[in-house]
Amino acid sequence: MSVELMAVGEALRAESIGTSVRIQGWVRTKRTSKAGVTFLEVNDGSSLQNLQAVVPETLANYEDLVLRASTGASVNLEGEVVASPATEQVTELRVLCLDVVGDAPDYPLAKKRHSFEYLRTIAHLRPRTNTFGAMARVRNEVSRAIHAYFQDNGYLYVQTPIITGSDAEGAGQMFQVTSLDLERPPLHEGRIDFSEDLFGRATHLTVSGQLEAEIMATALTRVYTFGPTFRAENSNTARHLAEFWMVEPEISFCDLTMLADVAEDFLKSICDSVLRNCPEDMQFFNDRIERTVLSTLQHIIESDFVRLSYTEAIELLRASGRMFEFPVAWGADLQAEHERFLTEEHFKRPVILTDYPASIKAFYMRLNDDGKTVAALDVLVPRIGEIIGGSQREERLDVLERRLGNQGLDPESYWWYLDLRRYGTVPHAGFGLGLERVVQFITGMQNIRDVIPFPRTPRNVEF
Ligand code: 4AD
Ligand code: MG
Repeated sequence: MSVELMAVGEALRAESIGTSVRIQGWVRTKRTSKAGVTFLEVNDGSSLQNLQAVVPETLANYEDLVLRASTGASVNLEGEVVASPATEQVTELRVLCLDVVGDAPDYPLAKKRHSFEYLRTIAHLRPRTNTFGAMARVRNEVSRAIHAYFQDNGYLYVQTPIITGSDAEGAGQMFQVTSLDLERPPLHEGRIDFSEDLFGRATHLTVSGQLEAEIMATALTRVYTFGPTFRAENSNTARHLAEFWMVEPEISFCDLTMLADVAEDFLKSICDSVLRNCPEDMQFFNDRIERTVLSTLQHIIESDFVRLSYTEAIELLRASGRMFEFPVAWGADLQAEHERFLTEEHFKRPVILTDYPASIKAFYMRLNDDGKTVAALDVLVPRIGEIIGGSQREERLDVLERRLGNQGLDPESYWWYLDLRRYGTVPHAGFGLGLERVVQFITGMQNIRDVIPFPRTPRNVEF
């Protein structure tokens, strides 16, 4: 008789009835009945639902094995998939052979419910919970959908560096990277001499792959990057990480309107993929985490996003008569409360805000004819606020040089970026989507620390 190694997710299906299988996974719960059988709920991460393994007391070493096969233990099971008499599941495993691979005495997750705060302190075990298993599968599906969208639409996946010599956002929120001995750094005229550093100059972890993506796009037309991004901002919010993943498409011969079309189409395709490919996990998030996620995703796919200029949004917020904690004034950045009012209360759908004041946006954004605003775009969604930030890029050399100067940045260190405007410049545009913000939006999870396996936030870098 041949025994097939099978994932739990497959053994749960009716088509597997009658097959002899081997199942490998971890015990979630154990229950011994008076009738002399033990039920093990086994999970291997392939599905939300566990496989019920029925261990008969006729098994050799039954007492000892069943004692050791406690919650958290890893097991190797052989047996036959049979139709389950219970209503909660289609199939179950009639066990012929049980092997405890790794015992788990005093397992910290033995209790049923734990707070997300507590689970963050045991991040090495939390993937074994329903919520974090489901999160990992949805996050995987979002990543797959991102690649699929761009690959299907003629974009090249390009890799941009993690160590950089320039501040892509010009906002100075960078982590320094150095090989110098910080206890005894080489000094020159009282200051640290970075010419002795490994790269012969000061370097940092990237805050965005955009500038390098622009290099690639001005040769290959449509590209995207997808990689880790670092921001040394000391903000302890439910929406910020010091290390997160960002997807950045960059498109040549593209203006702001075309970019907004891409952003909308792209977000819809991610939501659609998750709904189609993760129905069980999404039902779980809807039942247990946030009871609106399914209807919200469906609504997003079906409705047109609102498009509105920053100036119109300011007027609208002013006219709302609402008392906001932060005042609404032209020239100030929108706060989360303003973004939420627009998406959750006023329009009740995603909003693409465009044409922000130049003074609050990065140097690379294209200056509009009014001389006051730039061709920027933020996509705002209910519950999260900003999920995408992007712009048309300044392709005019003289304007770009002026903008760098105005923002106190040294044009010398952006020489290659300026060269792209000297040699065959084109209108081009791109945006960045935060992977964790999308996963947060899709799953309804409250805190961004719970949608990345190993969150990095101020004073938190365990695991
Ligand atoms: O708006 P941001 O700062 O835009 C850029 O970095 C551009 N260079 C992107 C581009 O045009 N190529 O960041 C883009 C997105 C945000 O909308 C947000 O989703 C996410 O990245 N993001 C963060 N996610 C988690 N933690 C943080 N600290 C984040 N900062 C930005
Ligand atoms: Mg932004």
